[in-house]
Amino acid sequence: MTSRAYPTQHRDHRPHTMQDTRIIRLGEAGLDDRLTRLRDGAIAVAGRRRVGPAWRLLVDALPPREAGPVLFARDPAGVSAIVGRRLWPEASVTAHHMDAWEAHIASRNLATNDSDDVEIALTSDLPPGPFRLIAIPFPARAESLYGRELIERAHDALVDKGRLIASTDGSPSWLRRVVKEVFGRADLQGTSRSGAVVSARRTRSDQRVRDHDHLVRFSRGDRELELLTRPGVFSPGRLDPGTKALLGAFTASPGELVLDLGCGIGALGLAAAVDADPAGITMVDSNARAVAVAAANAERNGLEAASTVLRADLEELPVGVHRALANPPYFSHGRIAAAFARAAASALRADGVLHMVVKAVDLHRDLLRSFFEEVRVEAVASYSVLHARGPRSAPTQG
Ligand SMILES: C[S@@+](CC[C@H](N)C(=O)[O-])C[C@H]1O[C@@H](n2cnc3c(N)ncnc32)[C@H](O)[C@@H]1O
Repeated sequence: MTSRAYPTQHRDHRPHTMQDTRIIRLGEAGLDDRLTRLRDGAIAVAGRRRVGPAWRLLVDALPPREAGPVLFARDPAGVSAIVGRRLWPEASVTAHHMDAWEAHIASRNLATNDSDDVEIALTSDLPPGPFRLIAIPFPARAESLYGRELIERAHDALVDKGRLIASTDGSPSWLRRVVKEVFGRADLQGTSRSGAVVSARRTRSDQRVRDHDHLVRFSRGDRELELLTRPGVFSPGRLDPGTKALLGAFTASPGELVLDLGCGIGALGLAAAVDADPAGITMVDSNARAVAVAAANAERNGLEAASTVLRADLEELPVGVHRALANPPYFSHGRIAAAFARAAASALRADGVLHMVVKAVDLHRDLLRSFFEEVRVEAVASYSVLHARGPRSAPTQG
């Protein structure tokens, strides 16, 4: 562990001077990066972005002493786990990740901050424990059903009298209500303009995890497919309208190899498996729960020829593929669509085709033109499906 001075313009009169502040460096952090001061200035995080309020509040609420075992979840950059390791050098610390890319980033940050003995659990569900302390942020923008499930699973993973610390950057009412329903009580530990912290101890011996899974059905050819959806995987409880638009805009031919990029529950890849039976379908996602659900859905529908792979960065995908399918997330402003287009251009045969469903047609058409010779736009309901052919061997950046 390091304790070193760090130059800053943000001098103030808090209890800790920068001379005794411990620095956590994220990514390729340099002297021009932003500093977020945590725990009254005892810790400062240097990174490209400031640490979000839900994570700041969580870290500030961690107890100074804890024997462990401790579990952190929803910690994409690994900041909470690094702080935990510094506060409690003797405790066993586990960090749960559902997304392989986030797990990769967090493990790199843990390594560069002398915390590589934190165990990373890249799994569909929270590890079962038992833990003495579980700390999780609940940002207001996050999916509430998955949030509820996290609170229930955290309850069941705690030892008797074990403690949950939960933070939010929104109003505490939802968090407080759900923690109270699950734990029997919820203590509002602090509120501020940035959000609030709620904590509770396990006093109930029964298991609190409820079933939040749902089934969705759709037909493909003469088959009726029944797919499981889970909180934390795209579009829980229903088939996304963008997915439906893309389902109606392609048909795979028998014998084809198909790649479903960002497969979620596997609706697109499994529809292709019905069309192309018995060819090879590969469904890839960075979300461990998505991959597990897509695999379960292949089995549930007797489509085991469709296989799943978990990848942090779309690495090591099959080549010589006839058809690639993609419904990229809208929130990423084309960043993930670009990663999908690059992966498709490398995986497809010269006569292969990528079908991508989007909302922002101009942005994505221009993007695909930098990876493919020809891009055709088809309007489907309120979406556009882009059909891209002729992968460029060395794609240019648009
Ligand atoms: C909008 S959802 C579509 C899911 C599914 N194809 C559907 O239509 O229902 C996008 C999916 O891409 C996945 N994803 C995002 N970034 C990814 C990446 N870099 N590598 C692999 N999958 C990624 C997400 O986890 C999510 O499941």
